[in-house]
Amino acid sequence: MFEYAPAPESRDIVDIKPSYGLFVNGEFVDGGGPGLKTVNPATEEPLAEVATATSDDVDRAVQAARKAFGVWSALPGAERAKYLFRIARIIQERARELAVLESLDNGKPIRESRDVDLPLVAAHFFYYAGWADKLRYAGFGDNPRPLGVAGQVIPWNFPLLMLAWKIAPALACGNTVVLKPAETTPLTALAFAEICQQADLPPGVVNIVTGAGDTGAAVVAHPDVDKVAFTGSTEVGRVIARTVAGTNKKLTLELGGKAANIVFEDAPIDQAVEGIVNGIFFNQGHVCCAGSRLLVQESIQEELLDSLRRRMATLRVGDPLDKNTDIGAINSAEQLAKIRDLSAAGESEGAERWSPACELPQRGFWFPPTLFTGVAQSHRIAREEIFGPVLSVLTFRTPAEAVEKANNTPYGLSAGVWTEKGSRILWMADRLRAGVVWANTFNKFDPASPFGGYKESGYGREGGKIGLEAYLDV
Ligand code: NAI
Ligand code: MG
Repeated sequence: MFEYAPAPESRDIVDIKPSYGLFVNGEFVDGGGPGLKTVNPATEEPLAEVATATSDDVDRAVQAARKAFGVWSALPGAERAKYLFRIARIIQERARELAVLESLDNGKPIRESRDVDLPLVAAHFFYYAGWADKLRYAGFGDNPRPLGVAGQVIPWNFPLLMLAWKIAPALACGNTVVLKPAETTPLTALAFAEICQQADLPPGVVNIVTGAGDTGAAVVAHPDVDKVAFTGSTEVGRVIARTVAGTNKKLTLELGGKAANIVFEDAPIDQAVEGIVNGIFFNQGHVCCAGSRLLVQESIQEELLDSLRRRMATLRVGDPLDKNTDIGAINSAEQLAKIRDLSAAGESEGAERWSPACELPQRGFWFPPTLFTGVAQSHRIAREEIFGPVLSVLTFRTPAEAVEKANNTPYGLSAGVWTEKGSRILWMADRLRAGVVWANTFNKFDPASPFGGYKESGYGREGGKIGLEAYLDV
């Protein structure tokens, strides 16, 4: 083992203002609610104060979006595409700044915000910019029409990326939007508002309203919103589905997950170990499609777990802005409490807990990479979404047993299969009830590839050509 010298990315590239307003009709305005502080979860240092939108503020934002809809939807697709391409290029130009800001506000390692989040954000805008003038070739008729005003509510785990998933297809199709970022990670959405100004986007096409759950609820319930898109917990997804039921609003929900990452005895072990690590420790495990249940074939259990423990001992936990960091900070005190609670339940229900020796910083919210073996299907850690760097290990003997255990969950967002045999990959993919099945890889994303769930993981698809459907009157 050798020590890594610190390699911090400078935060000087970001200029965080002491306070931010709401972005309505192309301008920053005051919010009627009490200001809310957003903190750096790695240090608990307050970063900025952000306005809270009341239902009156949300109403103003929806009215602005409604007014802009006339202009925006009447533009030829090629004209809308120019704006989206411009936004994509500005994101690329400001990528380093946005990556640092994302890591400061969210706690994720700079290596990920720089190499995964930001490239995917730009790619998403480029991809949907390309569709804006080709909608009639998308398979939804000769002259597919936009829906109107989209109300969008997003979570804190991929703040700017979830914004891109929501806003890019909406605008490409000719809709206007009112988006609410998560209360713990509003800063990159507000930077995006500045980018809209920089790109000369017509006022009202994009509106950003910050605040907590009640602001989100006001967006969802607003009678002049035509489409609701939500990513977050299944619990809130249910509340939103109830609000929208019986209205003409179109709805897509992208909710939780409890994915099985399934390793067969013929898998290349070292490669699988990398995939397992990427599957559960990427973004501190704050990933709806995380491979949080490892299903390993019994015959290779010892060998695989030995390798996995060795690999986990090399993971570096700490300063998100350090370029060597693998695992950053847990996003909030609330999320840390939930991870601690479920891990304690794992122990008390009889599973065996292991973490490598690692020194956690004194301040901020931290949790070590953790492995649970001897997990039974009835344990809470095998059933509930932990949304943290915690892996539950189960075993199987036959492919049929692997399928049965993998599908034994109320969720169905993703799955992973590791095997040398192509025929087995296809056999498994046919039987796994999950929106995405990765084979000999995990957590791979591409704007051209649709994403979404079965069962309690939600409905509708985002990404790809099919992702346009949610924003068109088809
Ligand atoms: P959450 O579902 O409460 O928050 C997601 C977004 O919804 C935030 O912007 C929040 O302000 C908003 N929101 C909350 N209540 C709302 C309501 N009644 N109407 C409209 N919008 C509302 O998720 P939270 O509390 O941050 O995390 C709880 C758990 O949910 C996590 O531990 C994790 O298991 C899961 N989760 C899953 C995510 C995913 O990507 N599938 C993302 C975030 C959380
Ligand atoms: Mg919540």
